[in-house]
Amino acid sequence: MSQLIIKGGRRLHGEVAVQGAKNSVLPILAATLLTSDTVALEGCPRLRDVDASMRILEGLGCSVRWEGNTLTADTSVLHQWEISDILMREMRSSAVFLGAILARCGQAELSYPGGCELGPRPIDLHLAGLRELGAEIEECGGLLHCKASRLRGKEIVLSLPSVGATENLMLAACGAEGVTTIANAAREPEIVDLQEFLNACGARVSGAGSSTVAVEGGRKLHGCTYRVMPDRIATATYLCAAASAGGEVFLRGAREDHLATVTAVLREAGCTLESDPAGIRCACRERPMAVRPVRTAPYPGFPTDAQAILMAALLRNRGTSVFEENIFENRYRHVDELTRMGARIRVSGRTAVVSGVDRLCGAAVRCTDLRGGAALCVAALAAEGETQVSALRHIDRGYENLEQDLKALGADAVRT
Ligand code: EPZ
Repeated sequence: MSQLIIKGGRRLHGEVAVQGAKNSVLPILAATLLTSDTVALEGCPRLRDVDASMRILEGLGCSVRWEGNTLTADTSVLHQWEISDILMREMRSSAVFLGAILARCGQAELSYPGGCELGPRPIDLHLAGLRELGAEIEECGGLLHCKASRLRGKEIVLSLPSVGATENLMLAACGAEGVTTIANAAREPEIVDLQEFLNACGARVSGAGSSTVAVEGGRKLHGCTYRVMPDRIATATYLCAAASAGGEVFLRGAREDHLATVTAVLREAGCTLESDPAGIRCACRERPMAVRPVRTAPYPGFPTDAQAILMAALLRNRGTSVFEENIFENRYRHVDELTRMGARIRVSGRTAVVSGVDRLCGAAVRCTDLRGGAALCVAALAAEGETQVSALRHIDRGYENLEQDLKALGADAVRT
């Protein structure tokens, strides 16, 4: 099994170009089903989750291929509407294909995505919204049998601003007659990117980024060439790497407006950040300061995906920093692994208290999930000696080439 060997204790100095956004390209790949023309996605990251989405599209009858960093999808031919259980289990977020398949085929069959490392991953809001649009959905034996001879636009109110449910309903609404409004919609930048992609294909979607998204359905969509937005969590990862190890980095293509709550905390920790249209420059002292409580929340609140990564950067903070994880039930699985490196973290329910330590020691650690794995690498940069990170399949789901990027920033990181 390959491992990431990181020798810590070196300040960072260098530049990386930020990859395309995983959580933007996944719903956009589902949205390609809404047109039978060819779509080219520029700046698409090569990730395990993108591979899984490509296999879902191929399983439906589409053809997808790489041309450099552009992924081209030809969805002119669909010969079925089912997603296999294996693919559903490989990527929980494949539920977002449901709305697009229903809009294109009028029926869909997929297994219930079930939970993952972060805890239960229910899709009750997805299913309730699709039923309001006219879908008949029968849940039986872990399978979802869905039929939608005619989808009709409706006013839908989400009980919580679910990213996946907002995306699923935007895609289904494109295939519905009339206008659909989604109130209490998620406001993440990835929702805006999905809107921009759909409109580039001739849809009429508005309001993304606000709490109410409107979709004028029933329009025939055409193909397009679209550049995916930069990955804000990969950006947060490299900013936190600099905060952890100290030094100065430049993240080309990064957009600070996508992660203002993260950069605000890093400034409070003592980092100096400057942004311009080319990217973000970040200079960090040798050890970060303690920060006020970090509470994860739906966008524009502090992103849950950056919680583990920021925690790793604050393990040597000069004081005590408190985290509150309010989105997922089981998102502190990285704590035990960080403790093996000498971190002092006390978890009680949704709260984690990080007491700064003077030194961290390299250790053998295992990734527990995607962002928890990235957190281990961020911590290893500040640890004395060598850290061996295993179970890299988690990291490969969301980072195109983490070790190469860390090396470009001056870290001693080698994949065996
Ligand atoms: C998306 O997941 C992201 N994944 C996650 O990133 C991210 O952490 C999450 O949004 C929150 O920002 C992708 O975009 C592929 P949600 P999603 O629906 O859509 C509950 C990463 O590391 N909920 O906003 O699954 C749910 O249990 C991944 O890149 C329901 O109760 O998130 C959770 O507690 C991890 N019923 C909360 O809402 C539903 O029908 C937020 O979930 C749907 C969600």
